[in-house]
Amino acid sequence: MAGIWIRGGRPLVGSVQVSSAKNAVLKMMAAALMTSGRCAIRRAPAIRDVETMADLIRCLGANVTRDSGGNLVIDGSGVDGVEAPEQLVRRMRASVLVMGPLLARCGRVRVPLPGGCAIGPRPIELHLQGLRQMGARITEERGFVEARADRLRGTEIHLDYPSVGATENLMMAACLAEGTTVIRNPAREPEIVDLQLFLNKMGARVRGAGGDAIYIEGVEELSGAEHEPIPDRIEAGTYMVAAAITWGEIILHPVIPRHVEAVTAKLREAGAIVEEVGPDTLRVRGGERPRPLYVRTQPYPGFPTDMQPQFMALLAVAAGASIISETVYTSRMKHADELRRMGADIVVDGQVAIVRGVRRLTGACVEASDLRAGAALILAGLAADGETVVEGVHHVDRGYEAIEEKLRGLGADVRRVAEDVPAAGGLPLVRA
Ligand code: UD1
Repeated sequence: MAGIWIRGGRPLVGSVQVSSAKNAVLKMMAAALMTSGRCAIRRAPAIRDVETMADLIRCLGANVTRDSGGNLVIDGSGVDGVEAPEQLVRRMRASVLVMGPLLARCGRVRVPLPGGCAIGPRPIELHLQGLRQMGARITEERGFVEARADRLRGTEIHLDYPSVGATENLMMAACLAEGTTVIRNPAREPEIVDLQLFLNKMGARVRGAGGDAIYIEGVEELSGAEHEPIPDRIEAGTYMVAAAITWGEIILHPVIPRHVEAVTAKLREAGAIVEEVGPDTLRVRGGERPRPLYVRTQPYPGFPTDMQPQFMALLAVAAGASIISETVYTSRMKHADELRRMGADIVVDGQVAIVRGVRRLTGACVEASDLRAGAALILAGLAADGETVVEGVHHVDRGYEAIEEKLRGLGADVRRVAEDVPAAGGLPLVRA
């Protein structure tokens, strides 16, 4: 298993380029299935989830290439597949986002039910319920969901919970439906507003994203479009924590300050200095032990669950006891066990963690259980005394573009190791 080796204890200083938002790009790739025109997504990050989505839409007949400028070009003229291959859906839950677009374009879609994942069961009943309300006939059989509809009908949908994926799936499907669809209690994440922008460039008529209700007036067909997605607010948040946890100073660009407000507020409360130093540019400075916090994850604009593990790493070295309450996922605390191996004092009771800050963490060999858990362990390793190896780095590669290069650019002593062979001291022998 590949790992990331880190010698901790250096303050990270310098500038970092933030990539485009993974969670916006993936949805735009799914939306591109709804047109036979050519879509171009500028600055699409070179990460594994984007490659997986590219493989998936290729299986469905799309032609996906990268041009010399790093833009992802999708030609949907050959889309004729209606069945998403199981191994790709298993690899990435966001694969279910092809359901709405394919049903709208082809009148039929069959996807394997995504199983549970490391952070909780993550069902899709809200997606299915909304599609049913739009007139889809849905059957579930032997682990597959099949949906059929000659043409979806616009309707009023009230989501019981503002699910990001359900909001996006329904919003995309409604673009080609007959009549107007209203989605009430939708998720308000910035990636959804960005998807609205992209869909409207394709000729869709969507408004209201980011607010209490989204209105989608169905159109007969969509065309190709070109778009540069918003910067990744979770990647940005991760580097913001890197500055605070290493007592460093990092300039981040591009970043939309409003999108990281909840993270900024918590970092300031912890004692870090966060300043807007230019258009779409933030500077984060840490220089003392963080103060303890109460962190409660919530749908946007609340504190993002995707930043919870990174904050657990930060609070592990705070001057006092913090409480973290995870309300979005039922079991997103696995990183606590690994942080404990590095000397953290954390007690987890269900979806709540009590983190008593210690003065220093110590390097250890730890394993990432998911994408953001991996990021948290890397942050902990950067702050810890001695050497850390974070295994299971394939999780991190799903969502962080060129993470070692970016960290090295900030002065971190970090490298990827191909093989981890346990040495006498417990740490793997490093073969660079
Ligand atoms: C998206 C993000 C993910 C982030 C999450 C919450 C992408 C690719 N992923 O995931 O990084 O952590 O938003 O901000 O954009 N739920 C149900 N029934 C449903 C749908 C969801 O119970 O039909 C539950 C899930 O189990 C989970 C919670 O709602 O506990 C949040 O899920 P959702 O908002 O749908 O997240 P995703 O779109 O999967």
